[in-house]
Amino acid sequence: MDQSHLLSFETLLSLHAVQVEQLLTELLSARTREGEVVRPERLLSAMRHGALNGGKRLRPFLVLETARLFDADGGAVLRVAAALECIHCYSLIHDDLPAMDDDDLRRGQPTVHRAFDEATAILAGDSLLTLAFDIIASEETELGAQAKVALISALARAAGVGGMAGGQALDLAAEKVRPDEGGIVQLQAMKTGALIRFACLAGALIGNATTAERESLTAFGEAIGLAFQLADDLLDVTATAEDLGKATGKDAAAGKGTLVALHGEEWARNQLRGLVAHAEELLAPFGEAAAVLKETARFIAFRNH
Ligand code: IPE
Ligand code: IPE
Ligand code: MG
Ligand code: MG
Ligand code: MG
Repeated sequence: MDQSHLLSFETLLSLHAVQVEQLLTELLSARTREGEVVRPERLLSAMRHGALNGGKRLRPFLVLETARLFDADGGAVLRVAAALECIHCYSLIHDDLPAMDDDDLRRGQPTVHRAFDEATAILAGDSLLTLAFDIIASEETELGAQAKVALISALARAAGVGGMAGGQALDLAAEKVRPDEGGIVQLQAMKTGALIRFACLAGALIGNATTAERESLTAFGEAIGLAFQLADDLLDVTATAEDLGKATGKDAAAGKGTLVALHGEEWARNQLRGLVAHAEELLAPFGEAAAVLKETARFIAFRNH
């Protein structure tokens, strides 16, 4: 019997995180796979530092919970969830580099380029990015070829020039020329929203959702993606580095174009309430089965870490 509704949201989140971390630990072992020569120890250690050092594991959680709507909860779902987390961790490693946000602290520990060196951090990011696609394509991921191609294509687009990486480029440009509100929303939908949208789409793709179900879930992913970055920008102003495990007050210092900078904290809190209400409406077709996803939307918007 599914007893997940009896657990607190944070307990459920950490139970899923343990599963994801176990798999990531295996995937980042020194054992080479067919076609690989050796896995250099220092590079592998940097990848582990970037991928196994905490983190809420929210994107994998969304993959697992959206797939559960369609009764899909096998090992393949976990592998897709881990693949997405590899891309997220790569994005954080590169986001922290001196050429980008120049941060020293991530998840309560020195950033990868601080613990190792810049070149190793760049390569650790590159290697996590490519590993993600290897994980999905691998024969150990028990999905049909068509489903794998659909997942790989959607993930590539979410991560690439028209998604996360493109959004990061626009984000850096916005430090120099402040975009208008529409520009900020667009860059945030890309840099943060795209991977979160993919998390929700992946569950639908694995679960063979109908077109209408897939559209509801991607719209849900878009709404919570915007809420996620709005909450992150709010926390940058209101939280402590100790709570977040990363430096705060960075956005204002860098002159980052954020909605919090544009409209203030009160507006942002109102906006978050509206985004959560909208996200919950989008889940209406799934009824009670979507209770955990509704709680996820609330957690994303009102979290304190
Ligand atoms: C931080 O993401 C980067 C953004 C997209 C805002 P998370 O807040 O999910 O970071 P971790 O994975 O929990 O450390
Ligand atoms: C990062 O946004 C988005 C990514 C694609 C990694 P931020 O730069 O605001 O993330 P944090 O605050 O460093 O986690
Ligand atoms: Mg950044
Ligand atoms: Mg940053
Ligand atoms: Mg931030």
